[in-house]
Amino acid sequence: MAATHETSFPERNQGWFKEQLTEVNQPIRRLLEGYSNIPTSEVVSHVNNIREQGFAANPYPCIGLYRFTLLTLLDHPLYGTIVQRLKQADTSYLDVGCCFGQDLRQLVFDGVPSQHLTGLDVAQPLMELGYELFLDRHLLHSEFLVADVFLGSTQTAWKRLEERGIDVVHCSAFFHLFPLEQQIAAARQIARLLKKGGIIVGRQIGSCKPGDVPAIQEKSYSYRHDVSTFDDMWRIVGEETQTKWRVEGTLDMVGINPDSPVENEDSRRLLFTITRLQ
Ligand SMILES: C[S@@+](CC[C@H](N)C(=O)[O-])C[C@H]1O[C@@H](n2cnc3c(N)ncnc32)[C@H](O)[C@@H]1O
Repeated sequence: MAATHETSFPERNQGWFKEQLTEVNQPIRRLLEGYSNIPTSEVVSHVNNIREQGFAANPYPCIGLYRFTLLTLLDHPLYGTIVQRLKQADTSYLDVGCCFGQDLRQLVFDGVPSQHLTGLDVAQPLMELGYELFLDRHLLHSEFLVADVFLGSTQTAWKRLEERGIDVVHCSAFFHLFPLEQQIAAARQIARLLKKGGIIVGRQIGSCKPGDVPAIQEKSYSYRHDVSTFDDMWRIVGEETQTKWRVEGTLDMVGINPDSPVENEDSRRLLFTITRLQ
């Protein structure tokens, strides 16, 4: 598997361990001050402190490079629609590979009832750190489930999600961790969770030249899509699960740094919406 709990190459992991921040972006500052009530003067050191602990637990580039401070769902063209939809009774949101759960907290800050929202990750320590980052362990009524996407409904928690059905799945910086075959396997499991008319939204590192790139775990690969290959993937998933999907997406340079150790000149941000039609 291309995702990593791999800590045996600390010198390699340091390639995506950015020096400490001296300021954070405005949206995450607003969230940490307004939702978590962290004093203005303590926000930066608080974020730096959580980043250290998170990277020690699991050395992902999204942690080392502070990408968790970018509230990408907020950037999605459907954000306002998603907030309105999730304010309705009996609606549900699942953040797959939620890590610290920053986008889930933004939804709560914007008025979505927290009991409509669920986070899911294979790494419990990262979800625990989410409570530390947002200081809401005793306030938030969202569920956080420890589960492995690839094991699907063999896990009780996942089976419950399948039975309930999900309206909005957020899936950011997740598929791009894996080779194409594994992405298809993961998408097959996620597809089974969506209600008809439900959507999967997110962003990941894409490429204007789709194909394999070295993954963060040594000697493994992950596949980077453009909109057309992502559409092909969901067509295969549809055929395999007797469902039908519409894929919409854009490639842009937002948050992309071609000089970063995990990107290159072909890298793009792939921002997507996948709608379950049947
Ligand atoms: C690169 S991080 C992205 C975190 C977050 N979605 C974001 O955009 O900031 C990928 C997350 O997926 C989780 N993950 C990796 N493999 C998984 C699996 N098989 N099942 C569930 N979660 C997984 C990791 O633990 C990690 O928190």
